[in-house]
Amino acid sequence: MAAPVLMDKIVALCKRRGFIFQSSEIYGGINGFWDYGPAGAELKRNIKDAWWNDVVRSRTDVVGVDCSIIMHPKVWEASGHIGGFKDPMCSCKFCKKLYRADQVWEQIIGCGWVQSLLGLYDPAKPTGVTGHDLKRWAQGKGKQLAPNLALVRNPDVTLSWLAEAAAAEGGLINFTDAKKWIGYFATEQRATGPLVTPCPTCGGDLTEPRPFNLMFKTHSGALEDESSLTYLRPETAQGIFTEFLNVLSVSRQKIPFGIAQIGKAFRNEINPRNFTFRSREFEQMELEFFIKPGTDAEWHKTWVAERLKWYETIGLPAAKLSCYEYKKEELAHYASACADVMFEFPFGVQELEGIAARGNFDLSQHQKFSGKSMEYFDDETKERFIPHVVEPSAGVDRVALALICSAYHEEDIAGEVRVVMRFAPRIAPIKVAVFPLLRNKPPLVEKAREVFKLLQPHFKTEWDDRGNVGKRYRYQDEQGTPWCVTVDFDTLGEKGPELLDTVTLRDRDTMKQDRVKIAELVPLITGKLR
Ligand code: GAP
Repeated sequence: MAAPVLMDKIVALCKRRGFIFQSSEIYGGINGFWDYGPAGAELKRNIKDAWWNDVVRSRTDVVGVDCSIIMHPKVWEASGHIGGFKDPMCSCKFCKKLYRADQVWEQIIGCGWVQSLLGLYDPAKPTGVTGHDLKRWAQGKGKQLAPNLALVRNPDVTLSWLAEAAAAEGGLINFTDAKKWIGYFATEQRATGPLVTPCPTCGGDLTEPRPFNLMFKTHSGALEDESSLTYLRPETAQGIFTEFLNVLSVSRQKIPFGIAQIGKAFRNEINPRNFTFRSREFEQMELEFFIKPGTDAEWHKTWVAERLKWYETIGLPAAKLSCYEYKKEELAHYASACADVMFEFPFGVQELEGIAARGNFDLSQHQKFSGKSMEYFDDETKERFIPHVVEPSAGVDRVALALICSAYHEEDIAGEVRVVMRFAPRIAPIKVAVFPLLRNKPPLVEKAREVFKLLQPHFKTEWDDRGNVGKRYRYQDEQGTPWCVTVDFDTLGEKGPELLDTVTLRDRDTMKQDRVKIAELVPLITGKLR
């Protein structure tokens, strides 16, 4: 299935089955913000629980914190976010849309008007694309798709100097260097400046890139002036660094040990895109693992292996996971190593988590800006040092999206398409659904309620008595529920005592239905969940 078609289907399912909705949809939505519906909220909670359980609770060398979102503004000076957390950004002089300069060409090449323009080239025609072809396009499709493109705004002027440029290129417009030709079409008069980068949306002129700080600003207190300026945190990590001394004094931990946190982070991303992949509000799961200087390489290797393995435990297939090791020249000046856990999304292989060996940069910066010593005293070796850190930092929303994309399956069942979300049971939003075969037969409903009450304390259980059983199965398949329990007339003993108090347990993946004693349901499902 083509990637955009698949993504459209996934987005539609997310809305249909209550995984993800556009934030403030009744007001037309707000770009870069998303809400999680009933199924999505459970899915996210399961991801966070799995991470917290595996990274914090089941280890003896990691403790957790839950820090405030708004912190002292000096934190962001120390961390480098005020000075350096900037993306180069350009905006369209016509439609005012904003783009990240380092990503804009990717968007230009993929946009509708460029694809339409490039479609004019026919390699079989020795003349290449002629001025006549371009003018016809400008006056037709161009007017609809890219009304502010120089070639559309003023075709005669643009084409007159373009003819000279084409002559210099051997007289042939053949689009072999698409970027260069698009620049030509976007530039009304080359004589007045360099080639223009066009807006992917309307074709208009983009400004030169300017730095843009990604932190959301707000004010703390009644006065709205410089003195009350604060920021919504762009990462959870800094809360951990600023609490390092407090946690060290209360937790009885010795280096090496880690402090973990899950929480919201905010970045005023210029181009939120790919559904929730790049959002303006998202959640992070971050661990700062403090270590002795000199042990960075070995701990980095350990955490990269741990983290890659973890993604398989929550059901992401190994074949879609990979690891990108940064080259020396790609590393921040203070980092000795960095690796990204990558996942094959329908829109490409993209980062899920970064694992960086950051030296003692963060604690040293906070020591410098706060004047508080961040030194650790090793009472075995009697050494004092500022601990180094290895930081595995993952995004909850990206993991949720990866799980959703990887779970989505379409199957042909006797000529009908079955959409099924094959979540690992550990991560599935609902573990089991309980149905009375018929909703208008009180003895069935009563028995089914009993079964529901039996299961509910153990598993996230859903009651479903709408439509017929087939429709309920399809609904639960789309929600990714691994097991459905149906209470039928056999459960009531109508076919004989041997079936009394048995139900059907239907498996989402095999669609097989087994007859199971009600008393065995809890141990059976618990066993399957392990
Ligand atoms: N403290 C290190 C840090 O924040 P990062 O690579 O900027 O590093 C870590 O972010 C993770 O947070 C990313 O791998 C990604 O999963 C998630 N993340 C970052 N920006 C995001 C965004 N705009 N939308 C969704 N998730 C994002």
